[in-house]
Amino acid sequence: MTTPETATATEAPARTAQHRRYLMCRPEHFTVSYTINPWMEPANPTDTAKAVAQWQKLYDLYLELGHEVELIDPLPGYPDMVYTANGGFVIDGRAYVPKFRFVERAGEAPAFAEWFRAAGFDTVIPEEVNEGEGDFLLAGDVILAGTGFRSTGDSHREVGEAFGREVISLNLVDPRFYHLDTALTILDPVVGAENGGPERANIAYLPHAFDDASRAILEERFPEAILVSDEDGAVFGLNSASDGYNVIISPRATGFDKQLRERGYNPIMIDLSELLLGGGGIKCCTLELRAA
Ligand code: ARG
Repeated sequence: MTTPETATATEAPARTAQHRRYLMCRPEHFTVSYTINPWMEPANPTDTAKAVAQWQKLYDLYLELGHEVELIDPLPGYPDMVYTANGGFVIDGRAYVPKFRFVERAGEAPAFAEWFRAAGFDTVIPEEVNEGEGDFLLAGDVILAGTGFRSTGDSHREVGEAFGREVISLNLVDPRFYHLDTALTILDPVVGAENGGPERANIAYLPHAFDDASRAILEERFPEAILVSDEDGAVFGLNSASDGYNVIISPRATGFDKQLRERGYNPIMIDLSELLLGGGGIKCCTLELRAA
């Protein structure tokens, strides 16, 4: 009896973890005392000790994976400061400082600016409303920039000038996914080059969080992107952090977990359910510090 020819299974490419340096903020003052996104309900109780314990697991995991984590001191009265992704956008040793949309977070901006200066980064003080890496993601050479709820379209021009890079503006349309990092994640900044193709970042996104025009742009620029289901999007599955191999995701994003494995990534689950009460997840608690 002959064995039927089997089609060679398409092999997932080998992935390598890249070293990362992150900025985090221990959620010592975490609570939900105001509402600036649909996830926040001040009437629901929060548990600060639980938030700290969950956050600690993420912090410990980054160190275990060999990454470096810097800490900024949490300020009393700023319960959202744990979401350091909004504290700036950093490329080549230069930090573009945020200008928060809501007064409740405005006081965080000078604290982040001061931290960057003390740590030796150049700072760019913005004129336009922007919420840092919550809305700006570096995808290879280009900056993907979200607007619709927080950062303005004018900030897209400003961030492009600050770094001398192309900016692709994307319109967010679902209030639950009010920052770009809740709807799109960068998995690996430079795949494709090894096959002689153009250097192109590998990304994953939630299609319905974007308007038609932005979806068309994403399809054209990132034809190999992972499209995440509404179910996985709704549990903040896309609010994840990748080092090019290990992708830290929410344990509820089970479909995304499978998609990542099929592509050769190593998803690791960390539960930040308490921080989700403030409308943030893994990526929100993580700001990448890119050195000069
Ligand atoms: N409560 C915070 C806010 O609404 C959550 C920020 C989440 N950060 C993020 N990068 N998506 O501003």
